[in-house]
Amino acid sequence: MINKASNWVKYCMSQIPCKKEALALDLACGRGRNSILLAKYNCKVISIDIDILSLKSFNRKNIIKVQTDIENFLNWPLNKDIFDLVIVTNFLNRKIFNNIKSSIKNNGYLIYETFGEGQQFLGKPKNRKFLLKKNELLSLTKNLKLIFYEEVKVISGETKFIKNRILCQNAR
Ligand SMILES: C[S@@+](CC[C@H](N)C(=O)[O-])C[C@H]1O[C@@H](n2cnc3c(N)ncnc32)[C@H](O)[C@@H]1O
Repeated sequence: MINKASNWVKYCMSQIPCKKEALALDLACGRGRNSILLAKYNCKVISIDIDILSLKSFNRKNIIKVQTDIENFLNWPLNKDIFDLVIVTNFLNRKIFNNIKSSIKNNGYLIYETFGEGQQFLGKPKNRKFLLKKNELLSLTKNLKLIFYEEVKVISGETKFIKNRILCQNAR
């Protein structure tokens, strides 16, 4: 797992207003690389993952860690309209997309980045169930206000990936 914060999350954070003590969610946070970035922006962060070892690997003031299986609806830990910001990187489960969106406050933001179709020929994940189709992230977020979207293919030395990335806002 990578330890540096996602460049996409960094870029989006440089573009949106982030009030002090904004409540942020890092869903499927892994070892917390992006949670730590959000905490540096003075967000209060809820970092959720199923893997206890990943959660134990980081600690910061302003980060609350929660171990749960977010794919089990009975465990769904999030109330509606509570987060100023939700970020998801390198994780995809289409079935919980509506739950994710409904947890964002009015005028709150969603930053999402994960692998796209074609990635199976460059590296992991190979299973197409975990790969976004062309423009799929746009349709999954169609009731949100689009700010930035890109589909990128990077091949540079050992680095090879296809990613789809979005920043959008729950502006009703
Ligand atoms: C590829 S890692 C990405 C981690 C982090 N978002 C990042 O970009 O560094 C995927 C993460 O999803 C977590 N995960 C997978 N299934 C999950 C589930 N059902 N509930 C919660 N977390 C899950 C894994 O434990 C892992 O930490």
